[in-house]
Amino acid sequence: MEEKSLQVHYIGSYKDVKQCPEIELPEYCFIGRSNVGKSSIINLVTGQREIARTSRKPGKTQSINLFKVEENPEWIIADLPGYGYAQVSKSTRGQWSLLIDKYLMARENLMCAFLLLDIRHPRMENDREFMNFLGSKKIPFCILFTKSDKLKPVELTTMLNNYQQEVLKEWEELPPFIVTSSVNQSGREEILNYIQRLNKLFVKQVL
Ligand code: GTP
Ligand code: MG
Repeated sequence: MEEKSLQVHYIGSYKDVKQCPEIELPEYCFIGRSNVGKSSIINLVTGQREIARTSRKPGKTQSINLFKVEENPEWIIADLPGYGYAQVSKSTRGQWSLLIDKYLMARENLMCAFLLLDIRHPRMENDREFMNFLGSKKIPFCILFTKSDKLKPVELTTMLNNYQQEVLKEWEELPPFIVTSSVNQSGREEILNYIQRLNKLFVKQVL
């Protein structure tokens, strides 16, 4: 079934979170290693093939790109640069950029960070650190496993089980997750439902 695409309006591209406009709408960001499929997922979710630029070369997205979804209710998408490539933080926080770090701490309207993980690869150290960072800062997140089209169903189940076992070594319970593929369009409806549920919980700041 062909799902309807969303009305999306590009707001702007920002090198620093300080430049991002304050927006009183629920916001969702997409984070993960370079090349994991962040921009592709944004295109999948919005149904807009070209809204976020994708590339075979890692490191395509270098700034914070904000988009407004002009549906009822309205909400915001943030496409962020990948971590684990080029921009590496010098501190011991972990190997993701200061830009992402500041973004996560500053956006008061952020409802959920979607953490993208390539389902084909075992858990990687910087993904583990990043998940722990989100947990320690109490930033709500949901895992999106990407590129599920590249695995056979039985391999997929094995990878998911392995992943969950790894996570449960450190976490009391499993974070929510959705299996996706931007090639065969799977996961779109679940992501949209997830966002719509959270949109209902968004309360505007009383100034
Ligand atoms: P950066 O902006 O560089 O951090 O990358 P990104 O995370 O935005 O990844 P992007 O969406 O640009 O995708 C990277 C590559 O993976 C592209 O060649 C995509 O076509 C491919 N890709 C993304 N999602 C999928 C998927 O679900 N399945 C398959 N088979 N390929 C995918
Ligand atoms: Mg990108």
